[in-house]
Amino acid sequence: MSIWNLYEKTYEGLWVQHISLRPTRKAVIRAISRLHLPENTLLDMSCGTGQLLDDLKNELPELKCMGVEPSLMRRTAVSKGHMVIESDVESFKSSEKFGCIVCTHAFPYFSDQIDAVSRFSEHTHPGGYLIIAHAETKTIYDGLMLMFVKLTTSKAKYPAPSKMIELLEPYYKICEVVKINAWYVPSITMYVARKGEL
Ligand SMILES: C[S@@+](CC[C@H](N)C(=O)[O-])C[C@H]1O[C@@H](n2cnc3c(N)ncnc32)[C@H](O)[C@@H]1O
Repeated sequence: MSIWNLYEKTYEGLWVQHISLRPTRKAVIRAISRLHLPENTLLDMSCGTGQLLDDLKNELPELKCMGVEPSLMRRTAVSKGHMVIESDVESFKSSEKFGCIVCTHAFPYFSDQIDAVSRFSEHTHPGGYLIIAHAETKTIYDGLMLMFVKLTTSKAKYPAPSKMIELLEPYYKICEVVKINAWYVPSITMYVARKGEL
């Protein structure tokens, strides 16, 4: 059983919401509101309980959004009216392409990160965007904080910005690398990348 199933009811009340998850959502929405997304469609990969989908519905209601989530957290998102596909990233397939794929605080849990980026690219419209944000172990403090986080989640591998750029560049042009930081939070970086037009 996935440890993420245990967060179905408690995820939205976790302490990391205040210091990490909420600031990331705000940064993602700020970035998206400056972009023109092909077809106005967005896929939130590993949407959890659908908090980013909630914020997008409120702040950018013209966007057509859907989520993908393998765990039971999906049920909370569905109960709030979001469209969510049950899938992990490894087996995700859709006949649709999206104007933007977002993946917040989930990429470190993917077992094959190279394959995940290639899958994202396959499902991004030409001229569309990929936005990924997650923590990294830049300092000893980050390492200690994330060691604690790892105890409560599945196995994780936090790629550093140089590694992320290496993973993204075969498929996307990097538009922005943004630090989402407060001193008491593990370093979080958001990558905004664009797929070339045909
Ligand atoms: C820390 S939560 C982040 C949820 C949400 N994106 C957010 O920012 O609040 C990590 C998410 O990654 C998902 N996840 C873990 N392994 C995954 C995999 N192999 N494929 C897809 N999602 C996965 C979990 O189910 C969970 O929803």
